[in-house]
Amino acid sequence: MPSDTNATAELNPSTATSAAAGKKVPAAPPAALARGEGPCGPAGECKAPPCSLVIFGAGGDLTKRLLVPALYNLVVDGLLDDGMQVIGVNRGERGTDDWRDDLHASLQQFAAERSSSGKADEASWNWLAQRLQYIAGDFSTPDTFERVKQAIGKSGCSNAIFYLAVGERFFKPVVEQLGKAGLLDEEGAGGFRRVVIEKPFGNDLASARDLNQHILTYAKEEQIYRIDHFLGKETVQSILAVRFANALFEPVWRREYIDSVQITAAETLGVEGRGAFYEHTGAFRDMVPNHLFQLMAMVAMEPPNSFDAETVRDKKAEVFEAIQPLRAEDVVFGQYEEGPAGVGYRKEPNVAPDSTTETYAAARVHIDNWRWGGVPFYLRTGKRLNVRRTEIAVQLKRVPFLMFRDTPVDSLTPNVLTLRIDPTHGTRFDFNVKVPGPTMRMGHVRSTFDYNDFFKEQANVGYETLLYDCMLGDETLFQRADSIEGSWAAVDAVLHPTAGGAMRVHGYAAGGSGPAEADALLARDGRTWRPLDDEPKRR
Ligand code: BG6
Repeated sequence: MPSDTNATAELNPSTATSAAAGKKVPAAPPAALARGEGPCGPAGECKAPPCSLVIFGAGGDLTKRLLVPALYNLVVDGLLDDGMQVIGVNRGERGTDDWRDDLHASLQQFAAERSSSGKADEASWNWLAQRLQYIAGDFSTPDTFERVKQAIGKSGCSNAIFYLAVGERFFKPVVEQLGKAGLLDEEGAGGFRRVVIEKPFGNDLASARDLNQHILTYAKEEQIYRIDHFLGKETVQSILAVRFANALFEPVWRREYIDSVQITAAETLGVEGRGAFYEHTGAFRDMVPNHLFQLMAMVAMEPPNSFDAETVRDKKAEVFEAIQPLRAEDVVFGQYEEGPAGVGYRKEPNVAPDSTTETYAAARVHIDNWRWGGVPFYLRTGKRLNVRRTEIAVQLKRVPFLMFRDTPVDSLTPNVLTLRIDPTHGTRFDFNVKVPGPTMRMGHVRSTFDYNDFFKEQANVGYETLLYDCMLGDETLFQRADSIEGSWAAVDAVLHPTAGGAMRVHGYAAGGSGPAEADALLARDGRTWRPLDDEPKRR
């Protein structure tokens, strides 16, 4: 990074809006924003309607680590109705008390790690605990669904959400059984009936189409909530706010001014005991056509006329339609080998010793439309890298010439707006100023906005907004069938290369920055990846 000086120009937290001062205030949900309302407070306004939340896969990791902590956070924020109940369904024979104790232990661990007090609020937990009920049953047996029906009936509230926190092989049978048991019939029930489906939504275009077709035999599109948890991340939701609530950015948000966009989801973790799942998924399917494409769509979509779910989703769908189908030469796969961060992928449990599954993927994507023609979007993701970082860096073009003759234009640091998603949340802007002193020298500086400087820290797991929106019936942050299929269509040629054209998988050191071939992908275009560990040092 060529620069005469590096300094971080912090914004002044004293200019924070009122939300910073008071109690924890959740972000305004899109539905509320759409109605032009302000953020909902903890006083009880904007409560979600009462409903039964039926979780299939109640004994799984997702339920313990993410869904129940998210529900608990919604309780703390006063956003759940007294008429709410949570019905957990799983195969294991156990009682409600046992399930409840298990969830309580996980919640305490979550609070110890993530909440500022280090403890769960017992009153909020008790509120939730009283509303938990466990049903032991097989996901493909009609009897299980009859018992779910009875439990919903007893609650006295006809609204229900069926959350499929189960392996993908259960998606079809659970939806089928729900349909056959009449549990998805909204008219008959006299309330809403919604189905939340986790990823992976298919493994390629054909399987995604097949899954959509199957599900839509039993439910209407507007009953289906396909979740991508990246869309629940605070800074991801903020992308639209940064773009469309500031006059500064949108005028330059186009090919005339933007050089390229880099989207990174780098992880230090390896496959963490998920070897069996990962072996047949790989980094590309796991992250690119879903999480990274969703981030790309938020950056690339045209301004919607409103924040109405269909309008926003129409704009996103247009982006997926405009993606130039990826070719093998646009993609680089890597696999971590032994390095400073530990053993290689092939030595992980449940991984074949000669596995060719990729743990790293980089791609160059082009969006063929008027706004983005010629602007490459570079995407990369990988396990066991040197840094944990999810961010979007929008790099502007260089100025056309520099009147300060001694400083060549190409020695200037380009302007880059970085939307920082994890682990820090905020934005950063790189620009040039004059270095203090008698001569005219250019210096590179950074202006950093960190959410925690302005707003009270939230122990958010990212599922709060998604669950809450589902209860409100707001589908803005959920994916429609056409977007899912559009994403898979754009990458299908990479997933199913023609004979002899199988993707090569290049090695990289565990704890390194990825394979050299990923650097070559950008070098071909005369560009480089942004360094993963580029925190500036104050001089
Ligand atoms: C999941 C992937 O969808 O997202 C994981 O299956 C990945 O492999 C995870 O680690 C990353 O999510 P986050 O929120 O930790 O960045």
